[in-house]
Amino acid sequence: MDSYHSNNNLDTIFATGNEEDSILKAIDILKNGGLVAFPTETVYGLGANALDADASAKIYAAKGRPSDNPLIVHIADTKDVYQLAEEVPQKAIMLMEAFWPGPLTIILPKKDIVPDGTTGGLKTVAIRMPSHPVALKLIKESGLYIAAPSANTSGRPSPTTAGHVAEDMTGRIDMILDGGAVGIGIESTIVDLTGDIPAILRPGFITKPMLENIIGEVTIDPALINPDSNLRPKAPGMKYTHYAPKGELTIVEGETSIVDFTCDSEIITAINAIIQEKVTSGFKVAVITTEENAAYYICDNVLIVGNREKGETIAANLYSVLRQCDELEVDYIYSESFNDGELGGAIMNRLLKAAGQRVITV
Ligand code: TXA
Ligand code: MG
Repeated sequence: MDSYHSNNNLDTIFATGNEEDSILKAIDILKNGGLVAFPTETVYGLGANALDADASAKIYAAKGRPSDNPLIVHIADTKDVYQLAEEVPQKAIMLMEAFWPGPLTIILPKKDIVPDGTTGGLKTVAIRMPSHPVALKLIKESGLYIAAPSANTSGRPSPTTAGHVAEDMTGRIDMILDGGAVGIGIESTIVDLTGDIPAILRPGFITKPMLENIIGEVTIDPALINPDSNLRPKAPGMKYTHYAPKGELTIVEGETSIVDFTCDSEIITAINAIIQEKVTSGFKVAVITTEENAAYYICDNVLIVGNREKGETIAANLYSVLRQCDELEVDYIYSESFNDGELGGAIMNRLLKAAGQRVITV
């Protein structure tokens, strides 16, 4: 029988996720304790058998991920929650019914079968049922629970295409299942259901009003609201600088017109002035903007992330635009703020982290 090892310098199989043969190969790898990257509707995941502590350990090695940062366990059937969680409160059941399969992760007290290596030593477990057909098929047909963080090197933007995964993981994992570009583009909303009042630990496509519509009051982890405070985020991964491009990213904010969604011209004027100063000093610069404003910038690298009237386009392209900045090898990146719309909170949470909270207000 083949055996698979996730040491560096192995050959990574790159295969289309829509073929039965690829899925069978992927299942074989996972059952042998190997690593398979696969598409989900949010971002690509880097999967291993969640109940095999040695397999989970390989995920940390391949990503260069701190060992105190727990993994999300992916399932394909809501009843699997009862195998992994010690208690399943009514509000969890209501959220599962409303949003699964989909971009929502719930935190519950863990059962002993979930190894500490998968939960970073925590007594709770993060569980999610993704809606991407390739992810569901892989989980269902393998009969496994699959631990999967985003399939990027720790600190880099999450991958939204199989090509992004290959950039970071070739030679470090056994297989990449290509399912094309993902639909949503930012990671799942995480809700902690272990306290009296459910709390959002990471904002995402499922928003606070959507959750409250189902289960009533929901709070937000205070560490997310005040990222500059010394509060410790309840999701350990939220404390790390994430998603950061290699160039220095700064967000330039000001009044954004909610009437036509175009950015205040003062912001554009300010960004153009900074760009000119940096270019004169010999630096390579990029600007991140939307379709509405792109024409107003005087810059060699104008990167359009989406359309302000369709926030989902900004979420879908955000990480690939940040990776593009690395490809262009720019020294400085200036981005407009994308706070408006339902997804504004989730998008700005990621963008501010990518910018190390660096903001200029004009
Ligand atoms: O959309 C997603 O959730 C993607 C796809 C692949 O499913 N996965 C993902 O995983 O974003 P990752 O590992 O990149 O982020 C997981 C986050 C981390 O911030 C981690 O600290 C938090 O979930 N987390 C995991 N288990 C937890 C727990 N028991 N308590 C609190 N936070 C937890
Ligand atoms: Mg991640």
